[in-house]
Amino acid sequence: MEVLGIDVGGSGIKGAPVDIETGLLLEERYRLPTPNPAKPTPVAHTIADIAEHFNWKGGVGCGFPAAIPKGIVLNAANIHKKWIGLNIADFISEIVGLETRVINDADAAGLAEATFGAGKGIKGVVLVVTIGTGLGTALITNGQLLPNTELGHIEFKGREAEKWASDAVRKKEKLSWKEWAKRLNAYLNYLEGLFYPDLIILGGGVSKKHKNFFPYLKLTAQVLPAYLFNEAGIIGAASIYKNTYQGKKIE
Ligand code: BGC
Repeated sequence: MEVLGIDVGGSGIKGAPVDIETGLLLEERYRLPTPNPAKPTPVAHTIADIAEHFNWKGGVGCGFPAAIPKGIVLNAANIHKKWIGLNIADFISEIVGLETRVINDADAAGLAEATFGAGKGIKGVVLVVTIGTGLGTALITNGQLLPNTELGHIEFKGREAEKWASDAVRKKEKLSWKEWAKRLNAYLNYLEGLFYPDLIILGGGVSKKHKNFFPYLKLTAQVLPAYLFNEAGIIGAASIYKNTYQGKKIE
């Protein structure tokens, strides 16, 4: 089955058709800048433009940076507040004119990594942390996702963890790789003490530069960089058509 995977990020919205059985992109991904301000209507129109670029007529699977239990956007840490309360799949589907399903962006990346990437075939608990503007998390046990974990917002060192250890903070505070890795390590160590994962996968744009900070990480679990890098979000978003999600068996 082929699905158009879309990854909505703070600076760019990326998409590509995905073969959800193999997890492979069928065409080169297409990226458009995220509208500013990123209110619902212009963002949905940008997704429609991406669908049009591929002349897409099938289903759309979209990763979005918010908690979306039962399909309703419930928080807005790094997105426009106007999204809160929307039934996001219905809203986007109406503008795009195609069947659309939506999943948290880190859950999408986590599913892709667990199915096709660094966590493939791993038994036990896998914690995926996507590191970017925020800190996104996905918890997967034996292939089953616990959705909307939002562990980037746990209070740590007197503030929200993502306001202290994200890649955006590294850049903003001009931290050296070592200084930032110490923060990331402390945060991951804390999560380890709560969830005892067997494997931690670190994703997001910074995972491409893993050689700069992996040597400073000292954790009990095995730690791996994401294999699919930035494509994980697109692949995982498309693959929600393959998984049981929000109580529905989608295939
Ligand atoms: C959001 C999460 C998202 C993460 C990464 C956080 O601020 O609350 O939903 O997964 O950023 O984009």
